[in-house]
Amino acid sequence: MSKKIRVLVCTGTACFVMGASDILLLEENLPEELKNRVELEGASCLGHCKNSSHGKAPFVMIDDELVSNASVLSVVARIRELADA
Ligand code: FES
Repeated sequence: MSKKIRVLVCTGTACFVMGASDILLLEENLPEELKNRVELEGASCLGHCKNSSHGKAPFVMIDDELVSNASVLSVVARIRELADA
């Protein structure tokens, strides 16, 4: 079985109010074929909101990759690319 894709959603205040709360419901929005490929976790502030060069909240780490200005759509799109790779 292939390795799970780790999705770490920042639930710190800045990210939460900017939409991380929606991303935490990711599993409901994943297509059936990706549901068992993802391991979803929440994390307290990842520190990126304090550095404007990292982009805008909400932040999500997908494996080792930082996604800024994340949305359910952008996260699902990236998971799909990684799952197909
Ligand atoms: S609250 Fe998300 S990086 Fe700080």
